[in-house]
Amino acid sequence: MPAAEPSWWETAVVYQVYIRSFADGDGDGIGDIAGLRTRLPYLAELGVDAIWINPWYPSPMADAGYDVSDYRDIEPAYGTLGDAQALIADAHGVGIRVLLDIVPNHTSDQHMWFRAALADEPGARLRYHFRPGRGPGGAEPPNNWQSVFGGPAWTRLADGSWYLHLFAPGQPDLNWAHPEVRAEFENILTFWFDRGVDGFRIDVAHGLVKQDGLPDADESVETAQSLVQDRAGHPAWDQDGVHDIYRGWRAVADRYTPERIFIAEAWVDGNERLARYLRSDELHTAFQFDFLRTPWRARALREVIDDAIAAAASVGAPPTWVLSNHDVTRTVTRFARSQPHHLIETDWERGRWADEDPDHELGRRRARAAALVQFALPGTAYVYQGEELALEEIEDLPDDVRQDPTWAQSGFTDVGRDGCRIPLPWTETDVPYGFAARSDAVTWLPQPTHWAQHSVQAQERDPRSTLNLYRRALALRPSLWRDGSAIRWLDVTDGVAAFQRGGVQCWVNTGHSGVPLPPAATVVLASSDLTGDVLPPDTAVWLRSQ
Ligand code: GLC
Repeated sequence: MPAAEPSWWETAVVYQVYIRSFADGDGDGIGDIAGLRTRLPYLAELGVDAIWINPWYPSPMADAGYDVSDYRDIEPAYGTLGDAQALIADAHGVGIRVLLDIVPNHTSDQHMWFRAALADEPGARLRYHFRPGRGPGGAEPPNNWQSVFGGPAWTRLADGSWYLHLFAPGQPDLNWAHPEVRAEFENILTFWFDRGVDGFRIDVAHGLVKQDGLPDADESVETAQSLVQDRAGHPAWDQDGVHDIYRGWRAVADRYTPERIFIAEAWVDGNERLARYLRSDELHTAFQFDFLRTPWRARALREVIDDAIAAAASVGAPPTWVLSNHDVTRTVTRFARSQPHHLIETDWERGRWADEDPDHELGRRRARAAALVQFALPGTAYVYQGEELALEEIEDLPDDVRQDPTWAQSGFTDVGRDGCRIPLPWTETDVPYGFAARSDAVTWLPQPTHWAQHSVQAQERDPRSTLNLYRRALALRPSLWRDGSAIRWLDVTDGVAAFQRGGVQCWVNTGHSGVPLPPAATVVLASSDLTGDVLPPDTAVWLRSQ
């Protein structure tokens, strides 16, 4: 019997739209739905199957929209519910599915529920985690948990009580043991599914349930700080009770045709823990972040690829490949410096692991090669806006324009994530490079003065640009890499990783010298120019083997 055709989401390329920085339709310097609608043809031409839109709900923007004050409406700076409906219809019209970002771990402190809690309305505080403090006069936080953004995970109100926020103080954590919380979120899912949304990326999916009694964390894993830390054993993360919530969500999604799907953002201790979120009655896929933590070394790449595929296969889910997102240093810059062995420290992720000057040209070569590896792998691939333009992290933003709460909460020691969130350059003009409908618009984060050359317009003209490489790769991917999920590693020289799927091979050279390609192979696509039949350093190639 022939194998069933995979569902779209099992092989999809999903483009992440960071809406604030994608395209600005009204000229206020902030991206919006109108801007996104005008750029849908660009996304269709790029060849993506779906978009994931970062939170677009009303928000005081304590954390760039991850502090939601109303889950059933649109942030006025981004548009209206009517605009959202039109966007969903337009996207579907050009064959692009729409995934939203749901933020269930916390609300905004301006959410109706938290305002009721602040006013101490009867029962309102039970929807959050309110506790008395410790020590004399209750002046110490209730436990030793640290916020991901720095400082204690607790804030004290004027009446002396403390509330929990694993992120910013403007993001109070919900109490998921409360039945109203569960019911409310199932209802929110229904609200958007009814409007045609194809699925959700689940923010902090591993955080919803806290260990009973909120015990102190063991000193050895004492901090929750950093999104990328090894969380094993911390009572705030990856508690077994969270799975029951997702079984409920899956039941909601399964009521709909066509399929509605979930993607978990779950920073957990290894792929085995992650696979638990993907059991058949839970979520469809989850981001596997090891790929983006991997240094530019063939052997390390091979290990994370094998591990990700095996873990996903153990629960029958497709693996996922992420090189970048709005929380980590852009790929070009990660690859623009020397490559240490252990890449899970925050400092490394944020590109400040050394005082080395970045070599962006080297970073670009490697990022292009990494993209060809990413698109050759089985499963789903995520592209963060601007990756297709090979944009680099902007590391020298003036301190007074920084918006990420990490900056202040870390006591001005951690610059945070603004550098990967700069508005996109569309045209070769001066700033704002066609990002905004008005040429005198002041963008919410300043763009660098040298980005005209990286704009969409400049890259469309250049056949060797990264944009054109992405377009070609995505056009070829469905037919070329269609065959099965198994990959077979080829026995090649050190510093090179090479695998075969069906009749096609992908080779990547992370070493320092050129490597001969197999004589009878035909090159289908290369990330940089080849020298004869030699694969140069920091280059990947797709080959048809004879
Ligand atoms: C997720 C988001 C990140 C946000 C955090 C808190 O990790 O990706 O941007 O700051 O959750 O909601």
